[in-house]
Order: sequence, then structure tokens, then C-alpha cells
Amino acid sequence: MSPTASHHVVHVTGARPNFPKAAPVIRALSSHGIRQVLVHTGQHYDPVMSEVFFQQLGLPEPDVNLGVGSGSHAHQTAKVMTALEDMFIADPPQLVVVYGDVNSTVAASLVAAKLHIPVAHVEAGLRSFDRTMPEEVNRVVTDSLADLLFTTSPDANVHLGSEGVGADKIHFVGNPMIDTLLSNLEIFDADAIKADLGLVEPYLVATLHRPANVDDPVQAAAVVAALHQAADRRHVVIPLHPRGRASFEAAGLMDHASITVIEPLGYVEFIGLVRGSAGVITDSGGVQEETTMLGVPCLTLRPNTERPVTITHGTNELVTEQTLVTHLDAIINGRRTFDDVTPPLWDGHAGERIAVVIARFLEDARS
Ligand code: UD1
Ligand code: UDP
Repeated sequence: MSPTASHHVVHVTGARPNFPKAAPVIRALSSHGIRQVLVHTGQHYDPVMSEVFFQQLGLPEPDVNLGVGSGSHAHQTAKVMTALEDMFIADPPQLVVVYGDVNSTVAASLVAAKLHIPVAHVEAGLRSFDRTMPEEVNRVVTDSLADLLFTTSPDANVHLGSEGVGADKIHFVGNPMIDTLLSNLEIFDADAIKADLGLVEPYLVATLHRPANVDDPVQAAAVVAALHQAADRRHVVIPLHPRGRASFEAAGLMDHASITVIEPLGYVEFIGLVRGSAGVITDSGGVQEETTMLGVPCLTLRPNTERPVTITHGTNELVTEQTLVTHLDAIINGRRTFDDVTPPLWDGHAGERIAVVIARFLEDARS
């Protein structure tokens, strides 16, 4: 990516879920001959949370890494904002593309909007209607500032419409994260990761990192108790997000012979692990979507989801610590069945659709 010409698009990424969403958009825009600059804010920085995605997803090296690291919401967001403001003033892009709902997303949107630089939001309009989630605040603010809103499911269009976003700004394009999944299907090798980890089928995978599940020691203990109940039935493999490590360890997560806790996995290894599993217990947004496409049962340990299409058109169910094992037993006993439908436009071509809209937008802006 060369940052020399005057017209360019800046992509702002920073946290693990941004990377599989950005990869197909960047790839598709390249074939339109649009000059692109990739910013990594440094929100996630461990090699397993960041670098591995660049290696595995064919993402170009970031042109800039802001190196903001971890911090409170205000500190982290402010660091991204001040660094991006300097960068955008020095060399204003024609468009800033932001992804998902993390702090880097909202920070970049605020900076761009105040510099009168248009913002494109990939994965717009998702709503949990739960303002205690930092992501919901980030989504609402980002969508209110965006000029191009790319949605992954029809419910998102409805939400944006009811918030007063003009229909001309909203583009239902499908899901770029699913583009990444589908384009790598052949390399997700369940047998390889099972052999690496010495796993015997059937096994479950669990990924949990939401503040509501991991930050409070009492709640973390309740989640760990539910995971132990699951492990009484099936071996549970947990590639543990760094956020929950201390609280889950303190709550005795590892004190069960059928629980294997490992470091976060690379994307290819992780999806291989999920693909070979009998089911997933999660609070991740992306994993709800990926299990839906892979046909793997998904139990989401949350009171709500901003991705209801994974319930209506997928394998997802919402559970609590109390109901988890009942739902798990239904899966184990084969009592759960799924319709063979997938969410509309989750067909592997969202990135291309996004690129077409962006290319037209840039052309209109230049004329
Ligand atoms: C962030 C996003 C969340 C997303 C998740 C994906 C926000 C508000 N939250 O949550 O929406 O689902 O990423 O994984 O943007 N840490 C490390 N190494 C790293 C990164 C983080 O050890 O490379 C630890 C640090 O202790 C840090 C904590 O994880 O304080 C939380 O990181 P942070 O980026 O603030 O939020 P996440 O919980 O990762
Ligand atoms: N993921 C991964 N390794 C792991 C856990 C998750 O590669 O050990 C991938 C997962 O497949 C998905 C992305 O990370 O594509 C989602 O990130 P996360 O769950 O951290 O964020 P969320 O989607 O909840 O915002």
C-alpha cells in the first residue's frame, strides 16, 4: 500500500475482529485501483491477537501502527483520536473505512467526522439494545456519524431506518467476515488442530471475553461453574482471551480434568477447531456468525444478541449460566435440529459489493 498520491482511502483496524472484516474489503478495493492506507491502532498487540491475522488472511502490512495498546475506554479512545487527527490533518483521506464496534472504530469515526472526512461503516446497524455493552455505544455513535453504512443483515437496515438514517446511505451487502470464512474453507483442518492438541472427539470449544462475563469475580465464578458442568459432559477446549485469564483462573477454571485452556489461536487453527467440534459456548459476536455458517451448534452466554439472524437463520441460541447444560444436553442427545438456511447475502461476495459502492462514492465526490 503506497501512501503517496493525493486521493486515498484509509482503513482503520485495531482489534482481532476487525481483521477478518477488513481483509475482503481491502482485497476488493485493490481491483478497483483505489489507493489504500491501512492503519492498525495497536488496540490489540499480542502476536496471537493481531500479527497472526495479517499472516493468515493475506492482509498487507499496516502502513501505520499507532501503538495505542490497552487502557480504560477514555484513554484508549483518546489515544487513537489524537494520533489519527494528526495523521488526517497532515494527509486528508477521501474516505475513512471503519469496521465493527470496537473502540478504534468509534475513535476513527469521531475524528473523521469533525474533519469533514466521510466515514464508511462496515457492519453498521447491529443493535443489542443493551447500552451497558461498550460495543453498543460504539455502534450507535459510529452509525450516527457515518456517510456510508454497510449492513450484514436486514434487521440492521430496519434499526438504521428507525434511527433516522437516510435509505440512500444504507447498503445491504452481506457479511465480509463470512467472505473470509468461505474463501478459506479448504484450509480449516479440524484433524490437524485436533492432533496438535491431542483431542479426541467429541469435544466442545468455549470462547468468552465480554466484560459482563469476565470482569466481575462473582459473575466469572458463575460462568466457570457452568463451564465445569459442560465439562462433566464433554471435553471443553478454551482458547482464552487475555481479558478473562486472571478472573477465570482465580475462579478455578482449570480445576477440571476435562477442561483444556490454551492461548488464543490463529484464525485458521481456531476455525479448524470449531469446525471439528460438537458445539461452541461463546459470547463472541464473530463466532456466533461463523458457527451459523459452519452448521456447528452455538450456545451464546448472553442475555441478548445484536446478531439475531444467527438465531433465525443459524445455529445460535441464547443461554444463561443456569440454562446452559439443558441446552447442551439437547445438542448432545440430538434433539436440536437446524433448517438448512443461511442468512441472506452471506455468500462470500460482500467485500466486492462494498468496493463497488465505495468506488462509486469516490468517483461522485471527485466529479
Ligand atoms: C475488544 C473490543 C470488543 C471485542 C474484543 C475482541 C472494545 C471496547 N472492545 O475487547 O468489542 O469483542 O476486543 O477480542 O473495543 N489484552 C492483551 N493483549 C492484547 C489485547 C488486550 O493482553 O493484545 C488484554 C489487556 O489486559 C487489556 C484487555 O485485554 O486491558 C482488554 O483489551 P481491550 O482491547 O481493551 O478490550 P477487549 O476486551 O479485548
Ligand atoms: N478467533 C480466533 N482465535 C481465537 C478466538 C477467536 O482467530 O482464539 C477469531 C474468530 O474466529 C472471529 C474473531 O476472532 O473471527 C472474533 O473475535 P472476537 O471473538 O475476539 O471478537 P468479537 O467478534 O466478539 O467482537
